[in-house]
Amino acid sequence: MARAELDKQPSDVRRMFDTVARRYDLTNDLMTAGIQRSWRRSMVRAVGPRPGDLVLDLAAGTGCSSEPFAQHGAIAVACDFSVGMLRQGRIDRPAVPFVAGDGTRLPFLDDTFDSVTISYGLRNFVDPLVGLREMRRVVRPGGRLVVCEFSTPTNPAFRALYLDGFMRALPAIASVTASAADAYTYLAESIRAWPDQEGLATLIAEAGWHDPEWRNLTGGIVALHRATA
Ligand SMILES: C[S@@+](CC[C@H](N)C(=O)[O-])C[C@H]1O[C@@H](n2cnc3c(N)ncnc32)[C@H](O)[C@@H]1O
Repeated sequence: MARAELDKQPSDVRRMFDTVARRYDLTNDLMTAGIQRSWRRSMVRAVGPRPGDLVLDLAAGTGCSSEPFAQHGAIAVACDFSVGMLRQGRIDRPAVPFVAGDGTRLPFLDDTFDSVTISYGLRNFVDPLVGLREMRRVVRPGGRLVVCEFSTPTNPAFRALYLDGFMRALPAIASVTASAADAYTYLAESIRAWPDQEGLATLIAEAGWHDPEWRNLTGGIVALHRATA
């Protein structure tokens, strides 16, 4: 079994991403019909990096979420604990600086970064609150957090269609390209179990971040949460 369970044991999560690494980027595009590219652009706009800014992109995987920051002159450090994802990233994106590290014990000094971002990563943490506190520790005072994560569609009819229809079909869709379709069963289950927009904002505040706010993308399939250190 390549999948993790909802207790999100770090060794299971790491192994699952090692297994899907080779075809991860391709499967992402297929599952979202390419819409994830516009979500990434919105993510970078929410961070608003200035040239020379140092951004930590945590749970960066293959660096697909880190790469767009370079176009704005920022330096995005891609950190992840799956060696398989990092290795694939080094092949596909040799210009991205990759660092191996666990988001619950980051290998960085306090106040190192101007901003910290995490895309589709926090949901996989064994303890997201610990991760959010670690992110707060490594960002300078006044720096920014942006979390991009699957969320809860706001329209009830669309929500039912998405959660009961698309989420159940996801493993079959992913099986066209993914190396391990059961990893995408975990994806669907973990999305359904994840807090809604307000729940995540509460968790972010509990971790010591100020003024959490969010913006829904594609009707709330994804939400961008932003807060200040
Ligand atoms: C769905 S991928 C997201 C990759 C990329 N950020 C993106 O936008 O496509 C989730 C990543 O989170 C990483 N991850 C999960 N828990 C982690 C932790 N505690 N520390 C570091 N990385 C973690 C996994 O290894 C995986 O590469």
